[in-house]
Amino acid sequence: MDKQQKIVEMFNNIAPTYDKANRVLSMGIDIQWRKRACDETYNRYRKNIDLIVDIACGTGDMMDYWKKQANKSGRKIGKLLGVDPSEGMVGVAKEKFPNFEFVISDATSIPLECESADILSISYGIRNVVQRTEAFKEFARVLKTGGYVVILEFTKDDKKGLLFGVKDFYMNKVLPKLGGFISKNKEAYEYLPNSIEGFLTSDMLQSELDDAGFTTEFVKSFSMDISTLVIAKKR
Ligand SMILES: C[S@@+](CC[C@H](N)C(=O)[O-])C[C@H]1O[C@@H](n2cnc3c(N)ncnc32)[C@H](O)[C@@H]1O
Repeated sequence: MDKQQKIVEMFNNIAPTYDKANRVLSMGIDIQWRKRACDETYNRYRKNIDLIVDIACGTGDMMDYWKKQANKSGRKIGKLLGVDPSEGMVGVAKEKFPNFEFVISDATSIPLECESADILSISYGIRNVVQRTEAFKEFARVLKTGGYVVILEFTKDDKKGLLFGVKDFYMNKVLPKLGGFISKNKEAYEYLPNSIEGFLTSDMLQSELDDAGFTTEFVKSFSMDISTLVIAKKR
């Protein structure tokens, strides 16, 4: 099994407890990050929305926020599609959201026509994509010119100080134990802090997006820089 297959297999294993663990570990703070991502994007993209595609959709929560925030602001979405290679995660999503559409696929091969999507999001997913450069090229292929890629992710930071010590302690000591306990899969929740350490800084992420043909329009770090939102427009 290669590295990417192992990651997907890990998500298959934790899928039944993913939502529960996420609720406890994030203490609900991610809700405001998700809503902000949707609102900032809708404010920027004023055209009709034919298609929003959520890559690494997991159990479907980000799709639900796209819908809820659109309803709040009176925007209509032609079609909302979730894409994820994990059958386990998508299985849970289908039970939660029977009216949403999903497809089992990898970020590097999205079963959509060129220039068909208005908005493409990936929340806490891009860090798991081994062939990231390929995925960014694929995002550029399926997005319309002027469309937006919206990334929410835990990014690495090099800051020091007491607050960052607290954050490190939570991410490296508390989270793996608590996540491991809830999911009965310690390895999966050790993977989380390690995958963040191995991931990019926000600047590096923007530079990779630029190489793939996107211009960053909005960057915001939330909650002691635990999470970063990047919104970039396809040139
Ligand atoms: C931490 S979960 C995030 C799920 C969801 N987006 C959310 O915000 O809760 C990461 C997701 O990335 C998916 N994933 C892993 N490798 C992927 C890849 N190569 N392409 C697309 N999705 C991938 C996993 O199956 C998993 O559902």
